[in-house]
Amino acid sequence: MTDRPLKQIHLAAHFPGVNNTTVWTDPASRSQIEFASFRHLAETAERGRFDFFFLAEGLRLREVNGLIHDLDVVGRPESITVLGALAAVTTHLGLAATVNATFNEPYELARRFASLDHLSGGRAAWNVVTSSDAFTGENFRRGGFLDRADRYTRAAEFVQLAREFWDGGLVRHSGPQFDVEGRLSLPRPPQGHPVVIQAGDSDEGREFAAATADIIFSRHSTLTAGQAFHTDVKRRLAAYGRKPDELKIMPGVTYVLGDTDEEATERAAEIRRAQVGPRTAIAYLEQVWGIDLSDHDPDGPLPTADPVVDSTVVQGRTRIGDPLEIAARWRAVAAEKRLSSRELVIEVTGRQSFIGTPAAVAEQLDAYVQNDAADGFILVPHLTPGGLDDFVDQVVPLLQERGVFRTEYTGTTLRDHLGLPVPGRR
Ligand SMILES: Cc1cc2nc3c(=O)[nH]c(=O)nc-3n(C[C@H](O)[C@H](O)[C@H](O)COP(=O)(O)O)c2cc1C
Repeated sequence: MTDRPLKQIHLAAHFPGVNNTTVWTDPASRSQIEFASFRHLAETAERGRFDFFFLAEGLRLREVNGLIHDLDVVGRPESITVLGALAAVTTHLGLAATVNATFNEPYELARRFASLDHLSGGRAAWNVVTSSDAFTGENFRRGGFLDRADRYTRAAEFVQLAREFWDGGLVRHSGPQFDVEGRLSLPRPPQGHPVVIQAGDSDEGREFAAATADIIFSRHSTLTAGQAFHTDVKRRLAAYGRKPDELKIMPGVTYVLGDTDEEATERAAEIRRAQVGPRTAIAYLEQVWGIDLSDHDPDGPLPTADPVVDSTVVQGRTRIGDPLEIAARWRAVAAEKRLSSRELVIEVTGRQSFIGTPAAVAEQLDAYVQNDAADGFILVPHLTPGGLDDFVDQVVPLLQERGVFRTEYTGTTLRDHLGLPVPGRR
């Protein structure tokens, strides 16, 4: 490290929802639909002086053999509606919604984010995602109309148009994806342009982020992977006339605290077992094997049959790689470590990113940021809605003592928190 000034850490709170990292069996678990839950997590994040609150989006429940995937049954309300309600009970916290650019329209979405930005006094952010699969698209009148290769060309044209609408005046545009002429029925939003987040990981996704986004929500949560991602993405900025500071990299991370490191490690293992129960283990196997494994014993060895490539047994999943290659790798790990199916899934689907005493976790988070593995973190708690309470009470004060995290908000908009200026009109 050089003797440059300490980098300041940016923090965001991810509302845990439809995923198996939420421990629903914990007695402290509450509704993921009721407003009280959103409010609790948002108020906790604001008490911790976080930059923003983040909502993911899933447009269609996954299906296995035509039945809704157990893990998805919980559901979630529409994000901008939730954030509109949260704007009324918070004063500084940024409010970020994930909204797909494939199945929406620029005027409509520009209007909704401009409205949220006005109502919240400049705190809106849009996480632009691009899933284009036909299964999701069947919810919309156009189905799977967009070639996967065009998902980012559409997203780029979409964001450019949204920004023109936000800037005001007459927008006249004719392009490959959109033909529009009109003007927004609102004044320019307080932030000029609501903050844009990007979360894709492909080469095109990274290029889109370098050209367009203010924040990247990344998956690269280890020190070395984070540093490689950071170097790769920041070096792409110059081609767009942008400086490294203009794009913040925030990996999604999990954490477990304890009074001692041993206690935290034990809790972390317990949480992993709760996250990957027998049914979840089978669901993971089905996503790779592409066959119905409801009769498979999770406490026995991995299935002996080979995966069925391009199966439609599990609909709506994100392809996580070549099933044959994954199965071979998993078999090798299971054989080497003598693991049952469930233990194998626990092993290969990751551990918590930061485990230890509050002091150890604060030190590691700071080290990641000072060593350019991240500019901050999107914290994904494993409990709804109290999952951030201990972090805000025990880790945030230590980050503040280290001089790397704000003790008070110094501005009122999300752009203020991120140190990003209001963009000029285009
Ligand atoms: C950390 C992370 C979080 C994401 N969250 C969502 C989400 O909530 N909803 C969604 O539809 N897509 C989500 N995505 C998907 C991407 O934004 C993107 O649309 C998809 O990965 C395809 O782009 P890619 O090929 O560049 O990865 C997420 C991706 C990453 C890396």
